[in-house]
Amino acid sequence: MTKNSLESRTVQSFGFEWNKTIPLHENLAEFDFFKKLFHTEKNEFKGKEVLDIGSGNGQYSDFALRLGAKSITCLDISDALNACGRNLEKMHFDKIKKMKFIKKSILELKANKKYDSVLLIGVAQHTVNPRLAVKKAIDCLKKDGTLYFWGYEDNLAYKLSFHPLRKITTCLPHRLLWKLTWVPAVLVKFPLLNIPLRCAGISNRELLEERRLSIFDAFATPITHFHTQEELESWFKEFDCIYEITSEPSDFWRRLLGMKYKNAFAFKIKRKK
Ligand SMILES: C[S@@+](CC[C@H](N)C(=O)[O-])C[C@H]1O[C@@H](n2cnc3c(N)ncnc32)[C@H](O)[C@@H]1O
Repeated sequence: MTKNSLESRTVQSFGFEWNKTIPLHENLAEFDFFKKLFHTEKNEFKGKEVLDIGSGNGQYSDFALRLGAKSITCLDISDALNACGRNLEKMHFDKIKKMKFIKKSILELKANKKYDSVLLIGVAQHTVNPRLAVKKAIDCLKKDGTLYFWGYEDNLAYKLSFHPLRKITTCLPHRLLWKLTWVPAVLVKFPLLNIPLRCAGISNRELLEERRLSIFDAFATPITHFHTQEELESWFKEFDCIYEITSEPSDFWRRLLGMKYKNAFAFKIKRKK
């Protein structure tokens, strides 16, 4: 497949995924996950103008609004933006005038407007140029603004299982893959299968439909880049930023398979000047 067709299949899979699946609801488990992942405080986004890049179904925009955001701008390249608009308007109708939706690629964004907080959560790795996506996101920050970044770690466990499996699953029709997600989504809750399936990239979330969504997300998109910590840190330094990694270190067994952190790489990033 050419680079263009890989990109358009990736974009289609996100449009399918976020419109197909459960509407956003009071998803408190995921909210707790987000708060832990980035060590957020109660008023983390109070009075802040937030840009959510690659907003998907709007789950993190929803969290930013719940944590006090003054306004939210959602930017996404795919039809996921329709689901995002529907969800946020339903859940935060009182703030409807403070919402903006832009259908565009982050790689083409001109950073004319700056934001207090920028979310780039699970997005850069699905673009054809993750380094440029990170640079564009940093360009959108106000002087004291914060970028919340989440990316995937390249590790031995993934090399052995996740990557070979993805070679097949990324070629399957989306409807078929969506049906197949039932199988690992159910099996992952069996104690003996949990660790190997988790190491193969299978989600362990509480709700079945959310596990299916997350599994589809991991196995459908032909463009998915995996990074080392050193690579990401070298970009943040190159773009003149200070950063902290907020994801928790892995347990002993996962470390043996090269997984340094639970839930991959979460970083909070600020510009030096
Ligand atoms: C894995 S989903 C993450 C969604 C959301 N941030 C979350 O974590 O729930 C990736 C999202 O990024 C969007 N995306 C992919 N490439 C993009 C690009 N070049 N510019 C903007 N959005 C993009 C996809 O359409 C999709 O909605």
